[in-house]
Amino acid sequence: SNSNIAVAIDGPAASGKSTVAKTLAKRLGLIMVNTGAMYRAVAWATIQHGVDPADSAAVINLLDRVDFTCGVENNLSTVLVDGVDLGDALRQDAVNSRVSKVAAISEVRELLVSMQRDYLELGSVVMEGRDIGSVVFPNTPFKMYIDASEEVRRKRRAAEGIIDDPTARDKEDSKRKSSPLVIAEGAVVIDSSEMDVEQVVQAALTVLRERGASEELLAKAN
Ligand code: CDP
Ligand code: CDP
Repeated sequence: SNSNIAVAIDGPAASGKSTVAKTLAKRLGLIMVNTGAMYRAVAWATIQHGVDPADSAAVINLLDRVDFTCGVENNLSTVLVDGVDLGDALRQDAVNSRVSKVAAISEVRELLVSMQRDYLELGSVVMEGRDIGSVVFPNTPFKMYIDASEEVRRKRRAAEGIIDDPTARDKEDSKRKSSPLVIAEGAVVIDSSEMDVEQVVQAALTVLRERGASEELLAKAN
């Protein structure tokens, strides 16, 4: 519909997707879209409304009763639940333990995927999640899968002082029927276990260059 591009970044929890996506987007002047926050917003709403996240019918019903609105502020995606930006509340343990359950419901995914695709109307995006290269933007040439060993990922989460078992969520995310976590066809795998953030950003820029991103865009990174 327009010339805006989508850079798709997928991978398991705590591999560094959002940190890398944020840095890359800032450097290139693109909008950074954190899709995990949208799934977290639905999980948060189940807590607020006392809905069992494993009860698909009840969660689907909740989608009609609660307003989820996505936007952009300072080139970063935002998600409002009934008009409220939940911020750090989306990172709490109760959300971590529920989010993979609501994310396995295909009606939840359909709603959020369509909101994610709408971002491309606003500008070029760096979007990070689990199914961006496989489902949301399967035709983009700019796809990467950022990985890191389980040990490194656990350490990265612990270093942030967040209580979370990222690998437990990965198992749930990988085994579900609807859009599981996979390495998308055509995605470049970047193992970041032994890399710092800047090295991963440079690897991502190399992917963009090799896959034909415009000189005008790439010049901004220098
Ligand atoms: O930050 P972290 O990697 O721990 O998680 P996140 O990116 O905020 O995603 C939270 C959860 O949302 C994941 O564990 C998935 O269950 C779900 N998710 C998804 O299913 N599809 C996406 N595109 C993004 C997140
Ligand atoms: O979005 P995702 O859950 O994949 O990871 P994140 O929220 O960006 O968290 C990754 C953490 O590891 C952050 O504290 C980063 O500073 C750190 N880190 C990284 O992202 N990439 C590296 N190559 C090394 C460390």
